[in-house]
Amino acid sequence: MAISKASIERVNAAIDITGLVGEYVTLKKKGVNYEACCPFHDEKTPSFKVNPVKGIYKCFGCGKGGDGISFVMELESLSYVEAIRFLAKKYQIALEESKESLAEDQARQSEKEALQIVVAYAQEFFKHNLHNTEEGKSIGLSYLKERGLRADIIEQFGLGYALSDWDALLKSATEKQYSSDNMEKAGLLVRNEESGKVYDRFRGRVTFPIYNISGKTIGFGARMLGSDKNQPKYINSPESPLYDKSQTLYGLFQGKQAIRAADLCYLTEGYMDVISMHQAGIQNAVASSGTSLTDGQIKLIGRFTRNITLLYDGDKPGIKASLRGIDLIVASGLNVRAVVLPDGNDPDSYAKNFGSDALELYLKNNSQDFITFKAGIFAEEAALDPIKKAEGIDSIVETISLVPDVIRRSVFVKEAARLFQVPESALTEAVNLRVFGRLRKPVFRPDSPEIEALKQETAEPLPGTENTVLYDLEGEIIRLLLLHGHKTLEEKFLVAHYILEQLSDIELKSKIFKNLITEYMERLDFGESMGPEYFYHHPQEHIKQVIIDLCEPLQEKIIFHTHRDFEDFSEWETENLHKSLFFNIMHLKKQHVLEEIKSLNRDLETAADEDEELRILASILEKKKTEAILTKELGDVINHL
Ligand code: GTP
Ligand code: MN
Repeated sequence: MAISKASIERVNAAIDITGLVGEYVTLKKKGVNYEACCPFHDEKTPSFKVNPVKGIYKCFGCGKGGDGISFVMELESLSYVEAIRFLAKKYQIALEESKESLAEDQARQSEKEALQIVVAYAQEFFKHNLHNTEEGKSIGLSYLKERGLRADIIEQFGLGYALSDWDALLKSATEKQYSSDNMEKAGLLVRNEESGKVYDRFRGRVTFPIYNISGKTIGFGARMLGSDKNQPKYINSPESPLYDKSQTLYGLFQGKQAIRAADLCYLTEGYMDVISMHQAGIQNAVASSGTSLTDGQIKLIGRFTRNITLLYDGDKPGIKASLRGIDLIVASGLNVRAVVLPDGNDPDSYAKNFGSDALELYLKNNSQDFITFKAGIFAEEAALDPIKKAEGIDSIVETISLVPDVIRRSVFVKEAARLFQVPESALTEAVNLRVFGRLRKPVFRPDSPEIEALKQETAEPLPGTENTVLYDLEGEIIRLLLLHGHKTLEEKFLVAHYILEQLSDIELKSKIFKNLITEYMERLDFGESMGPEYFYHHPQEHIKQVIIDLCEPLQEKIIFHTHRDFEDFSEWETENLHKSLFFNIMHLKKQHVLEEIKSLNRDLETAADEDEELRILASILEKKKTEAILTKELGDVINHL
């Protein structure tokens, strides 16, 4: 859904920065600027300045700065588009959008709004029941009080009570002209298949409203009272156009400010956990309501902090099952820690048994990085059983391989090597193999400019048609990069990094190879090293062919190693990788210099005047010196091969 540029400009023009910022902090005029204590970080003396003329702000304490749009993005935790909409509403500016999407959007929007209305009514009704009906008070409220919930917490979380009649909500809502169709769509009613009649979904239960990020009720969890083995403990709203479970986190609305302030989010197992944590004074807690963790939920948390700590009740079977959550968080580049409460406690019972401060202290002192945590889980079994130890290592290798950043991966490898007492190099190799293996599936992103360039690249002279020597040498480097890039040299750095470093001062002549290197580097920044298979599935037939020719079992292409038998060449190359790389790179560099000298000689013939001639001659001399150095180095290598 695109908002027109003109509308964005109008919103921008309407922003009164001091008025806007002044709604959140108290501004004091200081010269032409205004000052306040920064709303983004904790401070006693004001270092947050607003320049009303330029419409910008800047905090000299924490460094945050921007315009009105960035301000509401940050403080209201909105995306750019959401911020524009927020401001447009505030300043009463009608946003122009393309007609078609507007109609679609309006239809969707009005359906959501219609459902929102009935859900809001249900929430009001449940709350009313809890506090103002005999049944609600004697059954619901007394249950909550018995569990030790404070009145302010009951209020803050909007807890309510669904009466035990079959149709209490249905009756009350239809009397007030609410649409039962919409109530059914919102999951408040259930239809009996045989009779075709609808009745209340939630009956005789305490209700937990589920809020979206801006505090509107979109669904409910409902807990039974007491412990009837024939009933589910919780009944939850089904998904609806209003309630997308994969994009919702219980407690995020109440906790978002605290999550940002603490720069940490506790991810707990359930509704009561979040509520108990709040009651214990720990507000940076959320739970995924009745579903396993999703990418969408992680992204949601990522808007407030990069740090997630998973909080587990102290029972082992549950923990192993949820290790997947760790992998998911790691893969999205966030930091993940984990903490297990002791002896079957959950936050509720722990706080009750030992007090709120003890809970906070426990969480602080016992949260572990994911490697230590995983190692701990496998440790007991591993001590007795080497196969179990291998399983544990395998599981950690898998998790580490999901970390998108190569440097962070190597830090985790170190840590894991220490904990499991295995050589770091072995772990590095294992991790790299996973990273590498995953890339065998083509993962082309259609939007990448590099890919576009690759696709449009068809005018490449094929091998043998032009400048074969240079082409072959460049191809050799690409071959080495693709076949060995994921390995490490002297257990220190990636072969890929070594090659790319070496190539940084020369420009490859072949466009295919040049583009390939660009893409390789871009992906390496995200921690991916690509094998030849990646290009075997390239949409461009031409590129596929070139890479297959290069990398498939040694053909006579490898002309620079003719002193070796081809059969054992592959083995030799792997064993002598460092030398092999050095040799090829020097050779390529030398060839590049020779090419440059050739081209300078051509320039010399067409030089306009004596000055230019002299300048070119000086360049040629320079290049010849480089060539001599490279030749000497090459000779040294050859002597040592
Ligand atoms: P208490 O037992 O009252 O402390 O509640 P809790 O929220 O801690 O529950 P528990 O730890 O047993 O479960 C964690 C979460 O799993 C709950 O908050 C629910 O979201 C979900 N859950 C638990 N039981 C059920 C169930 O029977 N059905 C469904 N759909 N979800 C459940
Ligand atoms: Mn629990």
